[in-house]
Order: sequence, then structure tokens, then C-alpha cells
Amino acid sequence: MGRVHEGFDLSGRVAVITGAGSGLGRSSAELLADAGAAVVCADISLAAAEESAAIIEAAGGRAAAVVADVADRSVHQRLVDEAVRLGGHVDVWLNSAGVMHDDKILDIPEEDLDHLIDVNLKGTLFGCQAAGRAMKDDRGGSIINMASAAMLVASPDVGGYAMTKGAIVQLTRIMALETGKFGIRVNAVAPGYVPTKMASRYFLNEDGTENPELKELVLGAIAKAAPLRRVGEVDDIGYAVLYLASPASSYVTGQILSPNGGVAMH
Ligand SMILES: NC(=O)c1ccc[n+]([C@@H]2O[C@H](COP(=O)([O-])OP(=O)(O)OC[C@H]3O[C@@H](n4cnc5c(N)ncnc54)[C@H](O)[C@@H]3O)[C@@H](O)[C@H]2O)c1
Repeated sequence: MGRVHEGFDLSGRVAVITGAGSGLGRSSAELLADAGAAVVCADISLAAAEESAAIIEAAGGRAAAVVADVADRSVHQRLVDEAVRLGGHVDVWLNSAGVMHDDKILDIPEEDLDHLIDVNLKGTLFGCQAAGRAMKDDRGGSIINMASAAMLVASPDVGGYAMTKGAIVQLTRIMALETGKFGIRVNAVAPGYVPTKMASRYFLNEDGTENPELKELVLGAIAKAAPLRRVGEVDDIGYAVLYLASPASSYVTGQILSPNGGVAMH
């Protein structure tokens, strides 16, 4: 086996991915499985989690699907248990489950704020806690949190969402500081715009169907604003997750990796 292959080989490893039923979580699940990991696909939608697990299994990988609302603290231990059942331990944990609401700061309704905090922030923290405890008592591991370019660029109308993503960055750094001595690495990925289910909100008709003309307009404008002159694809983010999950990044912790086409630089 060559050194490059070894650096990205996840054979014998077990990964838990929340929000694995769609978008960036699904791409990450597929790529980690392709690198040899067994993957626990967790999502609030059982059908979506099962679809991701089926895609992995059809490609020859190992996966389990679990329905899990990350805002519920108790589900995270169930995800640890499922990982142990699948492969004996937890080596990688990706907190990708997330939600978005669009409001100006002056208008954010409390229910939207609660939803953002419950899923994006508390959901990520609960995942970090469950993963960290399991990894500390075992052989260490890699925790990856999904932040966003929105934590760096002050974009209008997504203030509540951006606040949770900014908090995730600081959670990531402090946990990296506290758990490095246990062999636990904690990093974040801060993607730029990728047209997933969540991000397609900007080009939908009132009935929820896609508006092709609006889509072209919106994606064109976003692409034009990026130095690389394109929007992201799910695998652009999945490969960043794969790097942080792999032995190749074994000296990397407390960092924010930003696959974003250059829209934000830090
Ligand atoms: N797409 C982008 O442009 C973009 C950019 C930056 C950051 N992100 C972040 O990436 C992550 C994934 O987003 P995506 O673009 O893949 O969106 P997506 O909507 O395609 O996927 C999100 C998944 O999370 C699941 N989910 C929602 N609430 C949940 C809950 N309470 N418990 C468990 N699962 C839940 C959904 O069912 C869905 O399958 C999010 O944290 C998002 O904030 C996305």
C-alpha cells in the first residue's frame, strides 16, 4: 500500500455522521465509506438516512441507518452504541445536521432562534460530548463540526444562523484544547455555498418546486462573487471532511478548513 493510500485509508474505522441523509452529510458518508470506514448514517428523516446507508451498501461498504433528532441529548449515546455494534468503537464523528432560517436581526422570531440553537449549536455540542467521551475512554479519534463561511462573512438575513456557526467555531477550538491529550482531534469545516436541499431555498417557487430561471440567476450571482467563479459541489466539502477524518491530518487540530471558492479568507 502506497503512502498516499495509507494516509487516507479508513479501513477498520467507524464513523458517525449526523445529517447524513442529504447534502454535505451524505457526500461525506459516501466518501468516508469509500475510504473503508463503516458509517452510522443518522438523520431526523429515517427514510433519508436509510437511503444514504443503501447507497453505501450498494457500493460495497458497511453502514447503518438511525433516526435521530440531534437536539435530543439522549440520542447521541444511541449513536455511539450503534457505532460500537457496527465496528467496536467510534473513530470519526461528523456533526453535519443543521437548519437555517432567514431573518434580519431586528426581526428574528424567538421560535426560529430556538430552532437554530437547538439543532445547530446544542446538537453539535451534544454530538461532541458523546463522541469525546467515547473516544477518551478508547483510542482517541477525529471530531469534525460543520461551520459555515457565514461565520466569517457578515451576510444579511442569516444572522441567527451565522451566530450558531460562529459559536461552533469556538466550541471546536476549545474542545481541541481540552481533549488533545486524549488523542482526540477536533476541527471544523466552513463551507461556502453549495446548492443542497437547505441552500436551494433561494430559488424555490411558493409551492416549493425549483424555479430554473431564478436558480440560474442566483447561482450565477453567487459564482461571480467567488474568486474561483463557481458555486461548490457536495464533494468539495466531502473531501475536506475526508482529510480531517484521515490519518493524513493526524497533526491537525483546532483548525477551520474552508472549502469556499475563496469567498472568505482567514
Ligand atoms: N449547503 C451549504 O451551502 C452550506 C454552507 C455552509 C454550511 N453548511 C452546513 O452544512 C451542514 C449540512 O447542510 P446541507 O447543505 O447538507 O443541508 P441539507 O438540508 O441538504 O442536509 C441537512 C440534513 O440534516 C438533517 N437534519 C435537520 N435537522 C435535523 C435534526 N434536528 N437532527 C438530525 N438531522 C437533522 C436534514 O434532514 C438533512 O438531511 C449544515 O450544518 C449546514 O449549516 C451548508
